[in-house]
Amino acid sequence: MTIGFNGQVAIVTGAGRGLGRSHAELLAERGATVVVNDVVGADEVEAAINRAGGRAVASDDDISTPAGAASLVQRAAEEFGGVQILINNAGVGRFTTLDLASIDEYELVRRSGLDGTFYVTREVWPLMTAAKYGRIVVTTSGNGLLGNPASVTYAIAKAGVYGLMRAVALDGAEFGIKANALAPMASTPMSTEFVSPDMAEMLRVEFPTSLVSPIVAVLASEQCPVSGYTFDAGGGRIGITFQGTNAGFYDRDMTPESILSSWDSVVSRADFVEFASGYESLSMVAASRERALVGIGE
Ligand SMILES: NC(=O)c1ccc[n+]([C@@H]2O[C@H](COP(=O)([O-])OP(=O)(O)OC[C@H]3O[C@@H](n4cnc5c(N)ncnc54)[C@H](O)[C@@H]3O)[C@@H](O)[C@H]2O)c1
Repeated sequence: MTIGFNGQVAIVTGAGRGLGRSHAELLAERGATVVVNDVVGADEVEAAINRAGGRAVASDDDISTPAGAASLVQRAAEEFGGVQILINNAGVGRFTTLDLASIDEYELVRRSGLDGTFYVTREVWPLMTAAKYGRIVVTTSGNGLLGNPASVTYAIAKAGVYGLMRAVALDGAEFGIKANALAPMASTPMSTEFVSPDMAEMLRVEFPTSLVSPIVAVLASEQCPVSGYTFDAGGGRIGITFQGTNAGFYDRDMTPESILSSWDSVVSRADFVEFASGYESLSMVAASRERALVGIGE
């Protein structure tokens, strides 16, 4: 089965360098018309794609503002008649502990990574719902999904886009829109200070195809098998990060002390379920009651 994007329009934010450039080049190589968005470097990537026989236009809109996001999407809609693929990749990393995290740092990281993802996704939404088709990727991080030391502002932005993706995946189902998250690992200017030279070599980003971009092409494709998933990818490995809800401890007469004395059940990972939504997870309470009633009956 071949994945191709002929006749499709893709917006890739933050595509002036790094992973965004790699995603843009792979999508273009596979036939997409790509809107290469970045506040720096978009023209160069546009030229490289067009030179290689692909089709790209550059946008230097700052997606951290509602006006910049609107201008980016309007341009794509007016010039190409629609947007089938949105790769939210733009982001800024700052890595500090809470005592050193300034409000300015927080604003910068949140505005580019989280607000920008919200603004651009919100702008493509009416186009995709009207067309009853869309593929949306957000770029999260192990920092936001799992946490890392000294990454508090970045973790907030990256956890935020995860929540956005989960909600959009649910809202998009009836419109043929699929949304998924990517947690990449790659040697780029953003990451090199945190990894050993060996690891940096393993996570090298090459153009047109980094070891992260192929999964982006899958998630952007008509064949994309899932929505609401989070993929971690880098250095040749692709997998998922997921959340489970355990059976837990059930007792209608619980007290702080009974919780502590049943701690093993509260935190046990022996028996867990993955829920598609927060509402669905409420069924865990009913299931616990059911189990308790059966227990009483015995
Ligand atoms: N490299 C990694 O290992 C890694 C790990 C986890 C997550 N990520 C995420 O992957 C994405 C790409 O990372 P990268 O390593 O290629 O980073 P990078 O810094 O090389 O590229 C990010 C690009 O986004 C652009 N950008 C930032 N704010 C923008 C805005 N407001 N409007 C338009 N463009 C903007 C920047 O100019 C830059 O070119 C980011 O969201 C990053 O947080 C990267």
